[in-house]
Amino acid sequence: MKLRVFSDYAALCNGVANEVFTQLKRKPTSVLVFPTGNTPLGLFKLLVDSHRNRNADFSKAHVVILDEYADLALGDSRSLTDWLNRELLMPLGFDALRIHGFEKGTTAMEDRIKQLGGLDLIILGLGPNGHLGFNEPGSTSNSRTRRIKLTRETITSNAAYWGAEDQVPRWGDTLGLGTIAEAQSIILMVSGPAKAKILQQTLQSPISTDIPSTILRSCKQSTIYAACPAVHDSGA
Ligand code: PGA
Repeated sequence: MKLRVFSDYAALCNGVANEVFTQLKRKPTSVLVFPTGNTPLGLFKLLVDSHRNRNADFSKAHVVILDEYADLALGDSRSLTDWLNRELLMPLGFDALRIHGFEKGTTAMEDRIKQLGGLDLIILGLGPNGHLGFNEPGSTSNSRTRRIKLTRETITSNAAYWGAEDQVPRWGDTLGLGTIAEAQSIILMVSGPAKAKILQQTLQSPISTDIPSTILRSCKQSTIYAACPAVHDSGA
């Protein structure tokens, strides 16, 4: 794992956007994964601006959905897939055939990833408990795409998106840690003082299922992009 430290959030988003552009130039048919949440919103804006200025070509790329709340009715406003569609995929001109979600279940998702030839670039956010996607503490490094019960900490942090904890679904579908670890390239975006402690733990705590993000330290192709106080570039 590598660590890249940025002076602020804008520089962090620029750094990640450049990785996406490089990936698309190298392989226009890339299979990409994006997180939802607040952290990637600045990245999304840069990608959409580049698309509008015709500086980036997403027309042949595919997107696999990282995670989604389980059992939502069609059109439920809490859908993470719909959030990603609104903020990124529709503005980038993705048609439905190039967006691969959990509609057919988690086993079908694993099959779909295989059919697509694997994940090229996966971008992740960091949960306050170290979750990646919805891989909550206890998730093993070889876990596959599956349904999982959300932890109290995730429900509390996700309440910020939907107004109250009782609005947050209790179960989610997520790409597994083993599935994520097979991606050609993995980027973890971490920003802001609220993430400083879990970032420090990600970098320094023993690699363990207690903090799922520590698994990235066993992935040579992973890079943490951080703009957090008190974290200095150690080239870890
Ligand atoms: P955030 O969410 O970007 O809104 O902090 C990250 C996460 O919980 O995975």
